Amino acid sequence: MARLLPLLPSLLLLLLLLLLLALDQSLVVHSDFYKDVDFVWGYQNSAIWNNGESLALMLNNVSGCGIVTKNEYLFGSIEVQIKLVKGNSAGTVTAYYLSSVGEKHDEIDFEFLGNETGQPYTIHTNIFIQGVGNREEQFYPWFDPSADLHNYTIHWNPTQVVWYVDGIPIRVFRNYESHGIPFPNKQAMRAYSSIWNADEWATRGGLVKIDWSSAPFVAYYQYLQLRACPWFGPGSSKHCSQGTPANWWTLPEYSTLSYEEQGQINWVRENYMIYDYCKDSERFSGALPPECSLPKY
Ligand SMILES: *[C@@H]1O[C@H](CO)[C@@H](O)[C@H](O)[C@H]1NC(C)=O
Ligand SMILES: *[C@@H]1O[C@H](CO)[C@@H](O)[C@H](O)[C@H]1NC(C)=O
Ligand SMILES: *[C@@H]1O[C@H](CO)[C@@H](O)[C@H](O)[C@H]1NC(C)=O
Repeated sequence: MARLLPLLPSLLLLLLLLLLLALDQSLVVHSDFYKDVDFVWGYQNSAIWNNGESLALMLNNVSGCGIVTKNEYLFGSIEVQIKLVKGNSAGTVTAYYLSSVGEKHDEIDFEFLGNETGQPYTIHTNIFIQGVGNREEQFYPWFDPSADLHNYTIHWNPTQVVWYVDGIPIRVFRNYESHGIPFPNKQAMRAYSSIWNADEWATRGGLVKIDWSSAPFVAYYQYLQLRACPWFGPGSSKHCSQGTPANWWTLPEYSTLSYEEQGQINWVRENYMIYDYCKDSERFSGALPPECSLPKY
């Protein structure tokens, strides 16, 4: 015992640290598919198990299915791990996005466009602000997204929106309101996910249709984490936007990419990017959207 005494202060410090970690919101908010989401459609094509930790969404020749979070949020981090449909997923789309409601809605999208066996998925991203989208960027994943669960996270705060894949930023949309470019900071959004038949357009522009003999098509989800500011009406706007320590998403470190993240995003965009609306001047008849002439990140 006497020999342990000198260690006591460090042991106490360790205990205190563990306690603080346990209290840290950002580490313990563990969401649950029973308690935090509702089904929008196709309930019969889903399954939840593992005490609400795991979810499967299925598409068959009768229906797809979709979920939505019970709460609306304004800013924060929306995280989930997804294992996409295996094998021949051509014509299927698994979507994972944030959206508000109404004609002038805001929306931040991840969509996974399926493909024939052995051909790469496409990670399709977009952002709508006050009803206007047309800001698509597409990537090939640098791994097989149907082999394992991977972390897909959207960070959304007053200065930027960042799309992360396994902690690697692939896309940023910065707040350039000072340049007259709208930013999604006024409408609360819910998180959605769904799987459906999109064979009109999804795979090689609609050339490859769903092969129903490969059905059912199943996407698996785990580890939903909604570390975001819940919205209880317009009164929440100020509360969620305020730069307070409790609003961790407003901390300076989340307002721009770190030096390391800039290296990562450059690597992704140089090697895996397949479409950038800001390079498609033909589509915009030479008049690219104004944010295209400003630094992306
Ligand atoms: C849907 O799939 C089931 C199971 O493979 C099959 O028995 C049924 O005939 C199919 N229905 C339609 C409308 O294709
Ligand atoms: C998933 O990625 C986000 C964004 O980088 C990160 O904050 C989070 O900690 C990651 N989750 C896990 C379980 O690694
Ligand atoms: C599917 O694979 C083809 C051939 O490799 C590729 O051109 C296409 O971009 C892939 N993704 C989709 C969604 O069509």
